[in-house]
Amino acid sequence: MTKIESVAVVGAGLMGSGIAEAVAVAGVPVVVREVDPAAVGLARERIGGSLSRAVSRGKLAAEEAAKVEGRITLTTELEAVAAADLVVEAVPEDERLKLQVIAAIGEVVGDQAIVASNTSSIPITQLAQAVNGPERVIGLHFFSPVPVMALVELVVALDTSPETVAGARAFVERIGKRPIETKDRAGFVVNMLLVPYLVAAMRMFEEGFASREDIDTGMKLGCGHPMGPLTLSDFIGLDVLHAVCDSLYEEFKRDEYAAPPLLKRMVASGRLGRKSGRGFYEY
Ligand code: 3HC
Repeated sequence: MTKIESVAVVGAGLMGSGIAEAVAVAGVPVVVREVDPAAVGLARERIGGSLSRAVSRGKLAAEEAAKVEGRITLTTELEAVAAADLVVEAVPEDERLKLQVIAAIGEVVGDQAIVASNTSSIPITQLAQAVNGPERVIGLHFFSPVPVMALVELVVALDTSPETVAGARAFVERIGKRPIETKDRAGFVVNMLLVPYLVAAMRMFEEGFASREDIDTGMKLGCGHPMGPLTLSDFIGLDVLHAVCDSLYEEFKRDEYAAPPLLKRMVASGRLGRKSGRGFYEY
């Protein structure tokens, strides 16, 4: 079993930055690769901001936050991931891009390294074919915000070896998160349950059944959810949700997964949720 002593994350958007932070907080050195200096700068700011929040909420001592930052190496060089025991791909949810990036990772890392994807909608089995040795490819599906959410889905593809699963499981536990194992099917466990609920809330709003605030308040106060479904959709990103709906619908052809007309149009008009400043709400 590959013991994970060093990690690399390729792609440092919201998810990649969060993964890198969680790894570094657990004491493991991490190389973070982004495409250009501007993206590297954004990732540095995002991670720094989240660490400051962790300090101000009393989750992390200030001197520890400085050590955590010291464990993170930000770079634009893909070769910098070569020495990692585990590389997590977290680039945008675009199949061609992911295949390209995973193939490039496979070329630079050692034979024993585990290659993981954080995809929420592309079959791991398909991504694994881009690597020489698909048995070392696995899905590691984190949840947003990564520094706070305790779950990671281990997505076991057709070719994933038991050693890869064991190595990935030990890594997830080492960073203080709880793994659950799932087959390589669209949506895995959580999105397969969550997405029909979010889609139902969007349809309810689209049909004028209730206001956005009342739908959200209903689920927050009625069921104790930390966020209502429309706020959560904005938080996840409407483009990401659209992609997950499409992959679930494509896989199972069930109506509850079909992207509602309003979601399609919101994405087309750049209303992507919190990250673009507007979605079901304005930010
Ligand atoms: N580092 C460490 N801990 C932090 C932190 C940070 N940067 N920021 C906040 N925290 C801690 C706080 O200390 C607090 O802990 P406590 O309860 O022990 O005191 C906890 O996180 C909550 O933080 P806050 O009180 O500041 O904030 P909120 O109460 O507003 O919670 C939230 C924010 C955690 C985002 C909460 O609203 C929530 O859980 N929302 C739902 C998120 C969710 O469902 N995510 C999954 C999305 S689905 C997905 O990602 C899959 C994809 O494929 C679609």
